Amino acid sequence: MVTPNPWEQAYLRFETPEEETQKFIRRLNQLGQDKWSRDLKIVEIFCGRGNGLIALQRLGFKNIIGIDLSPALLKAYQGHAPLCSSDCRWLPLADKSCDIVIVQGGLHHLPVLPDDLELTVAEVHRALRSGGRFVVVEPWLTPFLRLIHFLSERRIIRAILPKFDAFATMVHYERETYFNWLQQPDTVHAVIVNKLLEVSCNKKLGKIAFVGKK
Ligand SMILES: C[S@@+](CC[C@H](N)C(=O)[O-])C[C@H]1O[C@@H](n2cnc3c(N)ncnc32)[C@H](O)[C@@H]1O
Repeated sequence: MVTPNPWEQAYLRFETPEEETQKFIRRLNQLGQDKWSRDLKIVEIFCGRGNGLIALQRLGFKNIIGIDLSPALLKAYQGHAPLCSSDCRWLPLADKSCDIVIVQGGLHHLPVLPDDLELTVAEVHRALRSGGRFVVVEPWLTPFLRLIHFLSERRIIRAILPKFDAFATMVHYERETYFNWLQQPDTVHAVIVNKLLEVSCNKKLGKIAFVGKK
């Protein structure tokens, strides 16, 4: 049996699978999924327990794959997409084989910036077909996120609101990579646009939502 580590346990109680799936569906709607052909090959990297894949499946996408480092989280996946346990710095994907690569909340786990981000973005670029898209949704240090940090550091808030406690616990265990990521917005953006043409980039409510094109 694979036991989730403390970060994984906090992540699993941060939101229910259904809440997370609905969040991903809202995001994909905002990203214009209604204009994407249902036959596109879509790979979700850092897919965790795969609720992004469930969202894609519910929206009618048929050719989807998930990749994540954690066997424990992949085991929690309840859908039909093929999964692969792998480090996303070295993607087990053929050159020019994918139409869309999506990452939601994974890049900020990379240990070394900018090197690991450069490796990952180069791998995504290699795996995308010409004209393919890279969709990135990651934490971003907006005023809203500063407020969430402030609140989740308050013991009383954590005691009353389990979601804040789960969030603070996740931040505690990933603090090194998380704050490293949040403190280098220009570097992060520069590494991504070095390989992909920016189609759209929105920063609000503590997230960056970026779409780039090969
Ligand atoms: C916040 S979770 C992402 C949530 C996920 N996008 C979802 O839809 O459920 C971050 C994930 O990154 C994974 N991860 C961390 N480093 C990784 C790496 N180098 N390669 C692949 N996955 C990694 C973790 O196992 C974890 O599942």
